[in-house]
Amino acid sequence: MLKKIIIDCDTGVDDSIAILFALNRKDVEVIGISSASGNTDANQAAENTLRLLKLAGREGEIPVCIGATEPLKGPKRPYPELIHGANGIGNVILPESAQRPVDMDVRDFLYKLASENEGEVTLVTLGEATNIALTLEKYPDFSKKIKNVVAMGGSIFGSIGNVGPAVEANVKGDPEAFDEMIMADWDVTMVGLDVTTAVHLKKTDVDLALSYCRDDCRNQLEYISKALVHYMRGARIQNWMRGESPLHDPLAMIVAVDPSVVRTQKRITRIECEGKYTRGLVVTDQREYPIEGRYVTHCVEVNENKALNVLFAAFQESLR
Ligand code: BDR
Ligand code: CA
Repeated sequence: MLKKIIIDCDTGVDDSIAILFALNRKDVEVIGISSASGNTDANQAAENTLRLLKLAGREGEIPVCIGATEPLKGPKRPYPELIHGANGIGNVILPESAQRPVDMDVRDFLYKLASENEGEVTLVTLGEATNIALTLEKYPDFSKKIKNVVAMGGSIFGSIGNVGPAVEANVKGDPEAFDEMIMADWDVTMVGLDVTTAVHLKKTDVDLALSYCRDDCRNQLEYISKALVHYMRGARIQNWMRGESPLHDPLAMIVAVDPSVVRTQKRITRIECEGKYTRGLVVTDQREYPIEGRYVTHCVEVNENKALNVLFAAFQESLR
């Protein structure tokens, strides 16, 4: 049976790799994509998504909806041009698509898709959780309609952060929304920096994949290769990485379709919404009498080699 997936993302470079991976998995049906602000604004993120669908030969097949442009509270974080470029996709200009975003409120869009596919959908969030929190506020039973949630965000081991010493961008961008998302009555898996920074995507991995990919996805890998030039430059300047980058959003999508790449642990979890350095911190409590929170599944270890194999297998020739 096909795995039905809704993607909520701020289509930047790594989001775009995650989207293309999902589109090329034979066992996945992407039933809708909503855009979030983060790497770029929600309008540009939707535009990038539409162009990616065209690139993958899927123009007009999957509805795309523009989401929230502001976080629930607090200032919007600046768009990280150093990492994702001025247009979010590493300054690569993709051909325009004739498909337009659906003319719907993102809350109605997400709820409608979830209701039409009740109990069958994995919701994969690759950006700030604003759209999800807004949908839960309008439709409290949204959580009952979704099978499970896989969210890229946060970190739980010590001080691992990328937009602060201990905080990750998707959580920090809208901590209240992320907290609402994990406190809802559904099964959430967080794929955080503890594992995404442990998978190193190398330029040579993409070159190699290009040498054995299927003809119908060569253009997509060529796009990935181009977009990664800017992204890997950002990783070099910001993350001490040379000729490689962490694997954030694609790893979350991989976990959504093949959880065997990670080892997980369930912990009572909340998001800290205060503090100069701690706003956006993921707090987990393993004590016998913990704080009030919900159990969230956290990825604590990853098989790097397997994750990269799974990623590129979606683009290669296959016996099946
Ligand atoms: C997350 O922030 C964004 O820059 C990436 O797309 C990813 O979702 C990593 O912290
Ligand atoms: Ca993202």
